[in-house]
Amino acid sequence: MTVARWERLTALVELVLNTGAVAGVRRESLILCGPPGHGKSALLERWGANVAVRVYTDTTLTDLLSCARDAQNGQLTHVIFPELQKLLMRRSAVGDQALGFLAAAMEEGVKRVSLGPITHDFRSAQFGALGAITPDALSFFGQRLRHIGLFSRGLWLPWEMDTGELAAVSDAIRDGDQSALTPCEVNHAGRPRVPVRLSRSLAATVQKLSQAIFPFDVRFQKQLAGLCMASAVREDRGEVAALDVEYVASFADFFRQARRDR
Ligand SMILES: Nc1ncnc2c1ncn2[C@@H]1O[C@H](COP(=O)(O)OP(=O)(O)OP(=O)(O)O)[C@@H](O)[C@H]1O
Ligand SMILES: [Mg+2]
Repeated sequence: MTVARWERLTALVELVLNTGAVAGVRRESLILCGPPGHGKSALLERWGANVAVRVYTDTTLTDLLSCARDAQNGQLTHVIFPELQKLLMRRSAVGDQALGFLAAAMEEGVKRVSLGPITHDFRSAQFGALGAITPDALSFFGQRLRHIGLFSRGLWLPWEMDTGELAAVSDAIRDGDQSALTPCEVNHAGRPRVPVRLSRSLAATVQKLSQAIFPFDVRFQKQLAGLCMASAVREDRGEVAALDVEYVASFADFFRQARRDR
């Protein structure tokens, strides 16, 4: 079964996960926002078996502390929440504590955290998040997400399959074709992250691309640069090439629809 959008989203998720293999950049985050039953969770769970990735249906701060510890040791790069609304449905103090911690982990990294009498030092442990949420849950919880600053810390992409695409999925289910759900691999767990060079001229191209999509959103510019480096590392290159920037630019239509709060 081929649904072009499904294939492209799979490729984009792969790119986001590969930011985990690049030294000196943030592990990027991506949240799919779409109606129930459009395969959001199914798509994200394709990466569930990777050791550098951990899938949580629900979570608390305690789980995230252990993720930060593993990120610090190079054992974990991303956390997947196939049902992100579950976190938001928790008692607000508990949910906000976990989400606040997650926001820090997604961006600048987690530093000292005091829990009761103990202070944990995570030395800027940083990891990315992949998640899925329905538009209803998003509008219900949007205010909280905005307060915590989660929208600009990842790519929040709307995803809605049209009837032609849903018909193709329906045919695949009828035919027992599971090819769209086969597990995917990212194999950089435990390996040292590699530096990837981005030349001045290609950095300028990335800047132009970023400005054309979200003017003066410097965080987005960094996110794009990280994705370009991930594209290079995916092919074992230590330097970003023009084709990496073109590849990242090929997702511009998705990026343009991303929710940004600045
Ligand atoms: N491309 C596909 N091929 C085969 N089955 C699919 C495909 N996409 C989705 N499915 C199946 O359709 C069902 C619905 O998908 P899924 O549970 O991922 O939806 P969702 O968008 O996460 O919905 P919700 O918002 O309710 O959680 C699942 O059983 C999934 O395995
Ligand atoms: Mg789901």
